[in-house]
Amino acid sequence: MVICKSKAEIAEMREAGRIAGHTLDVLATYIRPGVTANELDKIAEETIRSQGGIPTFKGYDPGQRGYDPKFRGYNGYPSTICISFNEEIVHGIPSKRALKEGDIIGIDIGATYKDWVGDTARTFMVGKVSDEARKLVEVTEQSLHIAIEKMRLGSYLFDISNAIADYVDQFGYGIVRDYCGHGVGHRMHEDPNVPHNRQQTRGMALRRGMVLAIEPMINLGTHQTRVKPDKWTVVTADGSLSAHFEHTIAITDGDPIVLTLP
Ligand code: MF3
Ligand code: CO
Ligand code: CO
Repeated sequence: MVICKSKAEIAEMREAGRIAGHTLDVLATYIRPGVTANELDKIAEETIRSQGGIPTFKGYDPGQRGYDPKFRGYNGYPSTICISFNEEIVHGIPSKRALKEGDIIGIDIGATYKDWVGDTARTFMVGKVSDEARKLVEVTEQSLHIAIEKMRLGSYLFDISNAIADYVDQFGYGIVRDYCGHGVGHRMHEDPNVPHNRQQTRGMALRRGMVLAIEPMINLGTHQTRVKPDKWTVVTADGSLSAHFEHTIAITDGDPIVLTLP
């Protein structure tokens, strides 16, 4: 069931999104060799809370219970950010691991404000990275922007997926299929599911008030994924690099509104 949001609700969601986007801007200033994932996680939590927000991921349990505040901290995700190094695609858990020159680092963050969620991610380059890593990161970011351009009345869900696929396929990269974009609202994950790879059937028509997180995960090698024994960290099956960018976007009568801009 897709829950469309009113103009007033979208205005509130913009504040949640702004907190998440601003927090990524703050983290960007700390990206350098030697900084640890735990340090970034702590800065993220402090930044979100100082703006009146709550870290959405802490305690999140993607299992049967979904996102139920009753279960926060129970079998749930332990941290404020997900941090994914190099061949890690998404859902890496912060640890003592330090960033090093040449790494590409995906950071995903959720902020809850007035009971609305903003969900956003970027991939950062640490110092000087290889040309192939830089290209992967740039293409992934660009694919998100091309997808957002399609998020207008008159489009169907597959127009979003196919815009990403048309662009990314030129470079021969693998588009992750096992994890998708999604609706966002009071819960981080709502209907509909939005694939980023090519679709033959058009899916649902976009409607005014739909709020979607679009988050292409693009691999240098094949699209295939594997989950590490920690049961969270998703990596490329072939060990190739992966990049991830995400925004939460509202569909309106006119231009799409990117709710997670700082
Ligand atoms: N924010 C991720 C997504 O983009 C999901 C994070 S799962 C969590 O959909 F457990 F870390 F919260
Ligand atoms: Co996210
Ligand atoms: Co998301």
